Amino acid sequence: MSDPARVDDPAAIAAADPHGARDVLAGFPAQCRAGSLIDAARLPAVKRPRVIVIAGMGGSAAAADLVAACAAERVEVPVVVHRGYGLPSVAWDDTLVVAVSYSGDTVEVLSAVDAARTRRLPVLVVSAGGTLGELAVKRRLAWARVPGGLMPRMALGYLFFPIARALRALDIDVVAADDVAEALGVLEGMAQALGVERPTADNEAKRLAVAIADRWPAVYGGPVTGPVAYRWKTDMEENAKTFALAGALPEMNHNTIEAWRAPLARNLHLVLLRDAGETPEIRRRFEILSDLVSDVAGGVSVCQSRGRSVLARLLSLAYLGQWTSYYLALLHGVDPWSVPRLDEIKRRLSGG
Ligand code: PA5
Repeated sequence: MSDPARVDDPAAIAAADPHGARDVLAGFPAQCRAGSLIDAARLPAVKRPRVIVIAGMGGSAAAADLVAACAAERVEVPVVVHRGYGLPSVAWDDTLVVAVSYSGDTVEVLSAVDAARTRRLPVLVVSAGGTLGELAVKRRLAWARVPGGLMPRMALGYLFFPIARALRALDIDVVAADDVAEALGVLEGMAQALGVERPTADNEAKRLAVAIADRWPAVYGGPVTGPVAYRWKTDMEENAKTFALAGALPEMNHNTIEAWRAPLARNLHLVLLRDAGETPEIRRRFEILSDLVSDVAGGVSVCQSRGRSVLARLLSLAYLGQWTSYYLALLHGVDPWSVPRLDEIKRRLSGG
């Protein structure tokens, strides 16, 4: 059983987090602010694309999800997030390819850049360097070069904002300038409230982690916040090294809801990502879901997005999820930074 006192004990925190992930999370608002000022070099003078395909994996793909979620609310150009090798068949004429890989060494993303070259498509690279950076220089591709040294999933601000800024320069305004300013203010307000110095009684992320404890989190969002629920799941998996479920309403009302039964559901902690922008239909669905599931679930927590714009609402929930997964890592006694299994797969694939 995890010891809840661990998340308030500076010595235990320092021992469980030797790489200082806590400082990176505390600096996330500053990272977003810096990311929002990063320009891409050699941005192509392309005409308005028919479609934007963003190729990325894992933590880098989370930035792509965020771009797609914001774009869906504002622009008529579809944004397709591609997690895999090569490019999807939609990526033909008049497609802009964004290749996002924090390390720059993710083979799936490198293969997307190769496919773009074969199809003669313009490419925007977003990366701290690696092979992708070398390719950007060699082939004179547009490159938003971001600072290195972080774990990719903790570099969300360095990955999302330069994409949004480059798209704005191409006249595709996925987020309004006002919304960026608002989101940065919301995150700055949250940093202190969720940081390690703030005790559990007064810290939403610590309270959530303590409530989840040894259960598996099952995180559900609505139509807009669904991608953030998925981001919570991957943060829980990579940072806290625990299984996690994610889904979105209304879809889960048509399938997963049947699985919420005793006694298995006792092992799950339901986390509902609620949003001020919910329609009455979605609100009602959340209420019914809580009603049906609370008796059988190991626990239920409700998290509310902050801010007015979609960007602020999504980023505020993502930030809360980052901190919650961090504290869950401390409770589980695992290093939130390192991902030895991911590294091992990459090493074996590269023949190392
Ligand atoms: O956060 C992580 O470490 C992973 O999910 C990586 O993002 C993933 O393996 C892809 O690597 P990169 O983001 O460097 O392309």
